[in-house]
Amino acid sequence: MFLARLDYAADFEGWREAARTALALGIAPEEMSFAVGDEAGSLFAEPLPERPADAAPLTVAKAFPDLARKLVCHADPERFTFAYRLLWRLQRERKLLEIVSDPDTARAVEMEKAVRRDSHKMKAFVRFREIETEEGRVYVAWFEPFHHVVELTAPFFMRRFPGMVWSILTPERSVHWDGTDLAFAPGADPKDKPGDDDMEALWLTYYASIFNPARLKVKAMQAEMPKKYWHNLPEAVLIEPLIRGAEAASRRMIETAPTLPSLRHERQVERDMAGKKTAVPAFNGFNRPPEDLDEAREQARNCKACPLWEPATQTVFGKGPANAPVIFVGEQPGDQEDLAGEPFIGPAGKVFDAALASAGIDRAQAYVTNAVKHFKFEPRGKRRIHAKPNMGEVKVCRWWLEQERELIRPKLIVALGATAAASVLGHTVTIRDTRSKLIDLPDGETKLLVTVHPAYILRLPDPEAQAREREAFAADMEMAKRFVPAIARRG
Ligand code: URA
Repeated sequence: MFLARLDYAADFEGWREAARTALALGIAPEEMSFAVGDEAGSLFAEPLPERPADAAPLTVAKAFPDLARKLVCHADPERFTFAYRLLWRLQRERKLLEIVSDPDTARAVEMEKAVRRDSHKMKAFVRFREIETEEGRVYVAWFEPFHHVVELTAPFFMRRFPGMVWSILTPERSVHWDGTDLAFAPGADPKDKPGDDDMEALWLTYYASIFNPARLKVKAMQAEMPKKYWHNLPEAVLIEPLIRGAEAASRRMIETAPTLPSLRHERQVERDMAGKKTAVPAFNGFNRPPEDLDEAREQARNCKACPLWEPATQTVFGKGPANAPVIFVGEQPGDQEDLAGEPFIGPAGKVFDAALASAGIDRAQAYVTNAVKHFKFEPRGKRRIHAKPNMGEVKVCRWWLEQERELIRPKLIVALGATAAASVLGHTVTIRDTRSKLIDLPDGETKLLVTVHPAYILRLPDPEAQAREREAFAADMEMAKRFVPAIARRG
């Protein structure tokens, strides 16, 4: 029996090195064991020998490295040997990961899913508290993941909050971002789990002790921030101007009532939309168009056709029945939608729901989606400020809207705002020119109704103007209502 020692609970790089060596030495999975840190290993195990210098390079199914990275994050104490067994079998059974009835494949799928869910929870539920320290403002969060997902999930927070100094403390592992480097360290003691007011004391204790640069594990740090993320680092120089820009932009937004875009801007957008500026990858990078909405949703979950996927929490795909007579299209998910994974559940969603209710439309009968499926934002402190998607992003994401349209074939599409209208039509129009008219779409069977975006109503500073706009918006929903009973006829 052989034993490989790993540095920490989700030490993927350590596992990979050991697994390569064991494989090169022909060590069968039953003969291989792993221990983390000072954990006791098997009494009879001997340390893994060096890898032979002439070991053949390893080839493995394309999906395996990503899968293994997640498997080693699972709480299962057998995860490392299990991942090694998979790797061992894959050398002989190349298609193993495609055989879903195989118990090892099925187990791997379940484990990967559990890790992904846990990582998602961490993204959604970590709540930072602001602390003033002598060195400036820092943000600290306490979180208790079920699996070992701190390393896996930390790059997400780094991308999302590049301009903040933050720490996430968990009982097993902690991570600290100082604006340049991501550093991992041991966890905080669960008995010190802070109440709302104790965060500062906890951070002061732990920061001084665990984020001592002399104790940083550079190898582990680099392993957990693979090279592919390094291109993010130069962006650090943009943070300050971005934050300043966001502040100025939001001040401007508060000071000025919403206006229609200038003609020059619209022309530019039109040129972008029509021109060759944005290459849309075939099928947005997938092998084929989806056959149903579930497949479309699943594909879109992994969409990387434009850069917006990276800082966003998840793809927010459309929601509603596949036989919906009406599709409502918004611009892009907002902060709350990004966290929940559902369109129109935040403040704009409330305005939308109220208008639907006043028109007597049951939202459950309609399909609600967005022109752009990822939340675009600019970080500002711990807030994320909505940033308008550009027409290149709209154009790339339009492929998804086209799939939704094709799979649902609604009688009516309601475009909520100019971005949605541009995405449906493939060119820009003004709300002023198109609002409240039923426009025939080129497919000959679908109509388009353009109206304002509910967020526009929310931003109106004058309560009377707001009330007027709410009524006009509800009247547009009344027009849409005429198409809803069609659901009964279509069965
Ligand atoms: N605004 C949108 O356009 N869509 C949403 O889902 C939420 C806010």
